[in-house]
Amino acid sequence: MKKNKKLLSILKNEPSTHTPIWLMRQAGRYLPEYRDLRSRAGSFMNLCFNPEMAAEVTLQPVRRFGVDGAILFSDILVVPYGLGYKLDFIENEGPQLETASEDDASNRHVPNRLAAFEAESFFKRTAPIYETVRRSKAALPPDVTMIGFAGSPFTVACYMLGGKGKDEFVTARQKAQENPRFFAHILECLIDATSFYLKEQIKAGAEVVQLFDSWSGLVPAEQFDEWVIAPTTKITAAVKQEFPDIPIIGFPRMAGEKIARYAEATKVDAISLDQTVDLNWAQKNVSVALQGNLDPERMLGEKQPMLAAAEKIMRDMQRPFIFNLGHGLTPHVPPENVAALVEFVQGFKK
Ligand code: CP3
Repeated sequence: MKKNKKLLSILKNEPSTHTPIWLMRQAGRYLPEYRDLRSRAGSFMNLCFNPEMAAEVTLQPVRRFGVDGAILFSDILVVPYGLGYKLDFIENEGPQLETASEDDASNRHVPNRLAAFEAESFFKRTAPIYETVRRSKAALPPDVTMIGFAGSPFTVACYMLGGKGKDEFVTARQKAQENPRFFAHILECLIDATSFYLKEQIKAGAEVVQLFDSWSGLVPAEQFDEWVIAPTTKITAAVKQEFPDIPIIGFPRMAGEKIARYAEATKVDAISLDQTVDLNWAQKNVSVALQGNLDPERMLGEKQPMLAAAEKIMRDMQRPFIFNLGHGLTPHVPPENVAALVEFVQGFKK
């Protein structure tokens, strides 16, 4: 059965004649069937924590487009939620996560938070997510790969320190520079929680996991090892110790040339490339499997230029790879464009 899973084959370096495709944020507001379930759920949190509905959302893009991978429907901020932080998603504003404070690291009377990782309470708070993985996996066609995920510690820490993507997390980065011990403590806590979280997703049926480091491009070169490479390396080691055969995809978004060192040092099995990375550079300098690179903005325009950009990637890639975007699909993407892209990639012959 596993032989038919094209996405897994690429990650395991097995010979492959087809290019598999899945898309970051392939489930979401651009799909009418998502908006429908989302409004029935009442809120994004209710949707994430209702395994029956979340599994349905996970399967929606598989049914509609026939993509080769199903990504768990959840959010990277579920990890701080699992640690005991309040989380809400405000309509048209995005996530509102309770801000972590230095007291959280020393106050051992409050269970979890940042004092010490407690697997039991974390598991209780995140249990519906593993149930979503279980249900999605059970309903997947046998040739589709189940993808689990988590955010990388640096990116999640930015949100925990009261940050917003819009202002490039100035507050979070200032706090990190002012109190490096506190920041290191948050990263350590997130390493434990994220390793645990990914292993539970794998136990529930995830066949591949991706680590989203969406904001790694903000990290100064001098701190890249400490904030990005070391935490990722610890997580991959922890996961691989228990599950050596489960491939891990790293997504150090906007990290530029530092991607080469990241791929080498962290021992991820594949790198997801954002749209700013030159494919020829990546093929020369990154030895692990590759994924991604199509500019998500292309998905908003006319079909023909979008398909031409996709074709350029298909021709430029000289080795087996996984087709994906450089970042997620956005709410205004026409679903017909996604259908056309999937059909084009799956039918492509050089
Ligand atoms: O890819 C998928 O289809 C799986 C689901 C998924 C979501 N978020 C669902 C979601 C995944 C993998 C994520 C990851 C995520 N979440 C990241 C890393 C990837 C990236 O996009 O950079 C980040 C930074 C977040 C944090 C987050 N979640 C933000 C900033 C927002 C608000 C912006 C927005 O698009 O609304 C979210 C909300 C969110 N996560 C939505 C979805 C479908 C929209 C919520 C809604 O339905 O209103």
